[in-house]
Amino acid sequence: MRLDGARVLVAGATGVLGGALTAELAGRGARPALAGRDPARLARAAEAHPGAPTAVFDAYDPASCARAVHDAAAALGGLDAVVTAFGTVAFGRAAEVGDEVAEHLSAVNALAPAAFLRAALTVMGPGSVIAAFTGVVAEHPQAGMADYSASKAALSAWLRAVRREARGSGIRVLEARPGHLETGFADRPVAGTAPPLPPGGDPRRVVAALADAMEADAELLRTAPDGTPVVERRAR
Ligand SMILES: NC(=O)c1ccc[n+]([C@@H]2O[C@H](COP(=O)([O-])OP(=O)(O)OC[C@H]3O[C@@H](n4cnc5c(N)ncnc54)[C@H](OP(=O)(O)O)[C@@H]3O)[C@@H](O)[C@H]2O)c1
Repeated sequence: MRLDGARVLVAGATGVLGGALTAELAGRGARPALAGRDPARLARAAEAHPGAPTAVFDAYDPASCARAVHDAAAALGGLDAVVTAFGTVAFGRAAEVGDEVAEHLSAVNALAPAAFLRAALTVMGPGSVIAAFTGVVAEHPQAGMADYSASKAALSAWLRAVRREARGSGIRVLEARPGHLETGFADRPVAGTAPPLPPGGDPRRVVAALADAMEADAELLRTAPDGTPVVERRAR
């Protein structure tokens, strides 16, 4: 897809990756719309993009996710891409993590992104892109992160199935599956404490690579063990 002039909704634009991605896309000429859960943080994030439409959503209310997509499409006169860049993490052994935490991770990391992208499929046409951040745990589940890994694997499976469904429609499905990045995400868990982690990759390089992947109609962005982004035109 061509990003110059593209109308792109970034859900989770208040986060480090979502904010950096919104800036990267705008820098390439895209017209962003921003969605977030917190009105004050969302307003702050939107200050860098005067005139950009904003929408508040609640991850536990799929209708609010769909509404954010429809409102952004109405405000921008259509949508060419929708990217979900929100999520949350919890740490701890599976036997010690409560059911509420597991349910929370599933709602925020799998069901809510799917609600955004499901709505996007109904408003977007050929040549458009839906994209989501999963994470390396989707393919390499980690001890002490069973429910986080499971929620990301669920979203990854959803994306792969939808990619097959969407082939005839011309809508591209892009998965960003990076390893650990230096965004502070692991220091903001809803439960537990992160184990000592090696230095993570550079989030700016990852969002630049994600924008490249969108422009190249690629299917997968992952990171090499040293944090270098790798764009794969066809997902395996
Ligand atoms: N950083 C990494 O190492 C890494 C690696 C692989 C994948 N990822 C994925 O990348 C995504 C973004 O992470 P990040 O590194 O940018 O972290 P971040 O800066 O902490 O951003 C997290 C984003 O998710 C939003 N969020 C958290 N809980 C939410 C909820 N209950 N409802 C709605 N929104 C919620 C936050 O909103 P507020 O601003 O309102 O808090 C924020 O926009 C996540 O899905 C994460 O799993 C990150």
